Amino acid sequence: MQNTPLLHDLDTPANVLVVGATGGIGLAFARDLATRPAVARLFAVARRARANAALNALAAQYPDRVVLLDCDIRDEAALAAMAAAVRIVTPALNLVINTVGLLHDAALQPEKSLAQVTRASLEASFLTNAFAPILLAKALLPLLRHAQPVAFASLSARVGSIGDNRIGGWYSYRAAKAAQNQLLKTLSIELTRLNRRSIVLALHPGTTDTGLSKPFQGNVSAEKLFTPEFSATALLAVIAARVPADSGGFYAWDGQPIGW
Ligand SMILES: NC(=O)c1ccc[n+]([C@@H]2O[C@H](COP(=O)([O-])OP(=O)(O)OC[C@H]3O[C@@H](n4cnc5c(N)ncnc54)[C@H](OP(=O)(O)O)[C@@H]3O)[C@@H](O)[C@H]2O)c1
Repeated sequence: MQNTPLLHDLDTPANVLVVGATGGIGLAFARDLATRPAVARLFAVARRARANAALNALAAQYPDRVVLLDCDIRDEAALAAMAAAVRIVTPALNLVINTVGLLHDAALQPEKSLAQVTRASLEASFLTNAFAPILLAKALLPLLRHAQPVAFASLSARVGSIGDNRIGGWYSYRAAKAAQNQLLKTLSIELTRLNRRSIVLALHPGTTDTGLSKPFQGNVSAEKLFTPEFSATALLAVIAARVPADSGGFYAWDGQPIGW
């Protein structure tokens, strides 16, 4: 149990929402946050959160703190319904962590060459990695627009850095994460006008041992492959160390800024 503040300048228990809470890093965030006295309420959101055994176990352990909500964040109607469900419980969120991301699934593999790029692969990646996070922010805006500190942190990836792209490949994922970064930067400017204590962050978790990275771990040395628990706890420390002047930034798990 960590007794450290969740956010700069936040002196009341926080209302926190984690999206993608069934995923490797998302579940680790949910499990870490549920134990913290600094968290008043934890909304754990996923497409099938209420049918997920691990999330149900967490909600049973912390029944006054953990709320499970089902939502596909690519769906604007589902997002509106999820935001309305949150507003029944609280008028304000202090921390939103989006972990939703897509690198591969049954229909999609990251491209090794241009010949593998298709409209379908671009659309699928952009829908989940770029469009969904900003639609999430739009749906939650009334819950972020208040006088308390608030952070909206979304998991990007270092491979979304254009300046850092040295080996190519992974066209759709790289471009969709780069697009997410630009959308988050733009959000940071508008949100600062609405809440001067807000912080919007794009975060890189480091290569983490989850289903998303599993097929691509071959060349990763053991010490560079993080557990989801390590990544989540490290990123919570990165979020806690940021101040509103950092809003719109892109940071790695160790707190180092990443160039666009
Ligand atoms: N693992 C790494 O090495 C690594 C490195 C760099 C960046 N990242 C980023 O970190 C984030 C988390 O990755 P991870 O490794 O934890 O992946 P993961 O285990 O595959 O988790 C991804 C999560 O996203 C959820 N999700 C996907 N589409 C969704 C949608 N439309 N609506 C709601 N939820 C949806 C999945 O839920 P379902 O149960 O509904 O499928 C799952 O909970 C991703 O954004 C990824 O790009 C990961």
